[in-house]
Amino acid sequence: MLREILQAYKFVHNLFMHFYQTKHRQKPDELTIVDATLGDGGYSYNLFFRALESQAVTRSKHLLYSFDWDKNAIDFVSFKYVTLIKGIYSCDVGCHTVDFKKGLELGPSRTPPWYVVHSNFAWIDAFFQQVPAKNVFFIVADLGMSTRQLKSGRGFSFKTNTKLDLRMSQDFLEPKGYDILNVLSLKELRDLFVNTVGFSKNVANYLAKLIIQERKQTPFGTQKDVKRIEYLAKKLVHRFPRTFAKKSHLHPSTLILMGLRIAVNSEYKNLRAFLERSYKLLAVPGAVVLVTFHSGERKIVEEFIRQNVSQFYIVKPRDSEIKENPYARSAKMYVLLK
Ligand SMILES: C[S@@+](CC[C@H](N)C(=O)[O-])C[C@H]1O[C@@H](n2cnc3c(N)ncnc32)[C@H](O)[C@@H]1O
Repeated sequence: MLREILQAYKFVHNLFMHFYQTKHRQKPDELTIVDATLGDGGYSYNLFFRALESQAVTRSKHLLYSFDWDKNAIDFVSFKYVTLIKGIYSCDVGCHTVDFKKGLELGPSRTPPWYVVHSNFAWIDAFFQQVPAKNVFFIVADLGMSTRQLKSGRGFSFKTNTKLDLRMSQDFLEPKGYDILNVLSLKELRDLFVNTVGFSKNVANYLAKLIIQERKQTPFGTQKDVKRIEYLAKKLVHRFPRTFAKKSHLHPSTLILMGLRIAVNSEYKNLRAFLERSYKLLAVPGAVVLVTFHSGERKIVEEFIRQNVSQFYIVKPRDSEIKENPYARSAKMYVLLK
């Protein structure tokens, strides 16, 4: 959805400049852009050049902050774009208290300044309390996992035989996916699959029983974890063939893995906090842009829109994009204006 992100950026940037100049009779001296999910750096890199262009035209200084809680993403992007990135912020080890330290300072000459921030995006407000920013007019979050995370051997994909770690951030998160499978009670496991991937109570209860039977034989936390999830999914389909017959459904093994991943990473809790805090932080006019990939995320975004947002629009991926990248099929972008 990169093209649509850049279009939204241009639209909101023009809107902001126009309103600012009408109200203050001058151009803003500084504007701030946030990419809440740096990943492999694709969106940030492109936003950097968009900011560079805008800066040349308006002569207002543009700053870009890119967040990710996965240290691998921070290291990868800082290395890849070392000539562009101005500095790195990270919160204290463990990040239980949100106290940001300015780390590596790469040099004063980079323009527009691009900073990467090793942090949960839910703490966006705490970060900008410590590192004040002016006119935050564009915030984007591309939910889900990066290509490198999918290939990282942490259990995100069925293609590798591996332990179900499932933590996107190795620094901030405990427990891992297999801990959850080994320690949660029947009721807790049932609720997990009801609340994350919307299984009915019946289906979730049966799955929770299967998990408990399995772990009694051998605890989860071995290279066979992914295969065992596929085995449990087969049993689930066998027991509830009609529930899983619909073509539109994701495969049950994908749903089980997704439910565990959402729980391990507290994805819904973080998304709610991020929406509330980023929208509050946003200048007027401005936009928070979200790229979502499944109905659980969309429910949260749409509920937030109903309660807080009067102007928004939705963009679906183009056919040509889906052809190029089948993963984009499930994407839906929300532009929340303020
Ligand atoms: C789909 S990728 C982003 C890809 C990126 N747009 C690009 O162009 O490469 C999502 C990224 O968001 C990060 N992420 C997910 N939840 C997060 C959270 N709560 N706080 C910070 N980063 C998060 C993941 O670690 C991952 O690197």
